[in-house]
Amino acid sequence: MKKIFALIFTLVMAISATSFAAEKVLRVATEPTFAPFEFTDENGGFVGFAMELIRAMGKEAGYKVEIQHIGFDGLIPALQSNIIDCAASGMTITEARSKVVTFSSPYYTAGLLVLVNADNKDIKGYADLNGKKIACQIGTTGENKSRQVPGAKVTAFNTNVEACMELVRGSADAVINDAPVVAFYLKTPAGKKCKAVGDVLEAEEYGFAFNKNNVKLIKDMNKALATLKKNGEYDKIYAKWFN
Ligand code: ARG
Repeated sequence: MKKIFALIFTLVMAISATSFAAEKVLRVATEPTFAPFEFTDENGGFVGFAMELIRAMGKEAGYKVEIQHIGFDGLIPALQSNIIDCAASGMTITEARSKVVTFSSPYYTAGLLVLVNADNKDIKGYADLNGKKIACQIGTTGENKSRQVPGAKVTAFNTNVEACMELVRGSADAVINDAPVVAFYLKTPAGKKCKAVGDVLEAEEYGFAFNKNNVKLIKDMNKALATLKKNGEYDKIYAKWFN
């Protein structure tokens, strides 16, 4: 009799353990003013290319994906303190960042662009920004690039939306932001008052970022990304947001 109880007990424990395992949660964070990669819809839900991709990757790897909002400059600290498992935020894979977090394989190739008001006549590209007022998002490669401009007065905002508003109301001469985000913005009503100038600066690749110690998760997620690239799912999501 005792043996039967022990057996039942073991079975119940085993079953609940496996259902726990199926409920592995992936805590993702994003800064959602970066359409078409990550932004919020009218109900406050996270939408965009990277949001769909990370959900699909999580599903493929057996994780329940939960997305929260964290400021862009707070993402790496949140990874380092294990408050989140993954930053999905159009984050460029850079040498400096790679010292403190581990990136997935690249999921998108981008670059930077200079955005000015449509009626601007003197700024034709990055080289014309010397001494100008530049708006950008805090902690981004766009901020880095802005700070390299001699004599420029750089203002870094928490969100891209604020940086663009600064430009449209004439308080900044230019914004430096990621090229695909600028291209998307130009098609919105607010963006109609602006134009992109010059060539795409820098070749940048986006990766999902993880805590360096999360070796198993990084392996799982890279495997999932590779599978989605192979089985056509990545292309489907890509076509939805970039066609
Ligand atoms: N790619 C740029 C960077 O890594 C900008 C990313 C901004 N992302 C965002 N979700 N606001 O610095």
